[in-house]
Amino acid sequence: MLALDYAHDMERARKILTVFGTRPEAIKLFPLLHRLAHDARFDSRILVTGQHRGMLDQVLQLADIVPDHDLALMQTGQTLDQLTARALTGIGEILDRERPDWMVVQGDTTSAFAAALAAYYRQIPVCHVEAGLRSGDIYHPWPEEVNRRALGALASLHCAPTQAAATGLLQGGTSAHRVHVTGNTVIDALHWVTRRIWGEPALATMMRPLERRFAGKRIIAVTCHRRENWGAGAEEIAKSVKNIAKRNDISVIFPLHLNPQVRNVMMAQLDGLDNVALIEPLDYPNFARLLNISHLVLTDSGGVQEEAPALGKPVLVMRETTERPEGVKAGTAVLVGARQQRIVAECNRLLDDDLAYRRMARAHNPYGDGQAAGRIVELLAQSAEARMTA
Ligand code: UD1
Ligand code: UDP
Repeated sequence: MLALDYAHDMERARKILTVFGTRPEAIKLFPLLHRLAHDARFDSRILVTGQHRGMLDQVLQLADIVPDHDLALMQTGQTLDQLTARALTGIGEILDRERPDWMVVQGDTTSAFAAALAAYYRQIPVCHVEAGLRSGDIYHPWPEEVNRRALGALASLHCAPTQAAATGLLQGGTSAHRVHVTGNTVIDALHWVTRRIWGEPALATMMRPLERRFAGKRIIAVTCHRRENWGAGAEEIAKSVKNIAKRNDISVIFPLHLNPQVRNVMMAQLDGLDNVALIEPLDYPNFARLLNISHLVLTDSGGVQEEAPALGKPVLVMRETTERPEGVKAGTAVLVGARQQRIVAECNRLLDDDLAYRRMARAHNPYGDGQAAGRIVELLAQSAEARMTA
């Protein structure tokens, strides 16, 4: 934990247990964890499931977060049933020991879903950060769409990142007093990391050798990991990148997710190509730098869909649907699915049509003002108070 610079009033402090397990959750929760750690109204505890390991630890280290509990659940090749079952029982045991006043979870992963379920079984109220996102299709993204819907049913406090997400929750019957538009904490995280890089440029120098190697070429950043894209979808994405990489005016930088299901397909198709750099997952400052130097972004990620528009980078979303329509509506994101023909055609269009490119490359940030974490802390304070006096 961050060092506390004053003594907590443990008599009055409400115990908040924040539970997460993957890289994107850690990125989107560290701004909130920083605030909770410095707020005497709270006794903040952290449980990581360890659904991810290296990719999670990169963020914990950067943000100076030391978990109180770590279930170390990651196992290569485990099924969703195994992960869910192990997370549920592991989190339940910690809840019985910690007995928090509130649980905080973020997003739509199996860690978040299992944590909220374990809390519900103990009638511990749950605050859901990034609430209300819906694609409308239970298999895209899979299993996240159902995780989110379940989290919507299990949570008592819904922190919606945008008005559209809040409206969706209200239309689905969630009580208005439980739904609040806070902005997305990903923008808080992006501001934080940008400030860190300004103060300490050495944090984000990993791209330099590639910038030299690809000098004079436009850089395309690529990320891919979605389960619904495993198999045929990942093959199509790999072939698309191979096809685009035939151009001599671009280069591709592709930090590979550590999931072997994705990694092996990409390595088989793309390893050794002259203008494709397949690299290890970047830590957050270096990934932010990669986005900044990129001309265009190809991704099936959720978080990258939010960050690219904030940085004015056109993003081609390699999915059939998105629960983040704001970027598409704003004109900085286009849904291209996971099929080679469409991905390559859209990519070439943006590379060859300067006007089309410039229309998309306007910095637009529909996801918040970088103050989301502060709003969530105040909501937690009010909700904890209300519960104490109920
Ligand atoms: C998970 C989340 C997804 C989220 C994504 C972010 C679920 C069901 N899926 O994806 O919502 O968008 O994380 O990246 O919750 N691995 C490592 N080291 C790591 C991380 C992963 O080696 O640090 C490998 C392991 O073999 C692991 C595998 O990748 O078993 C898959 O990890 P998993 O958490 O299941 O990832 P996804 O389901 O792909
Ligand atoms: N990211 C990172 N290093 C990388 C790739 C991504 O730090 O090599 C960050 C990215 O900035 C975003 C988050 O990881 O904040 C997205 O994670 P991911 O795509 O794994 O998950 P999703 O957002 O799809 O749930």
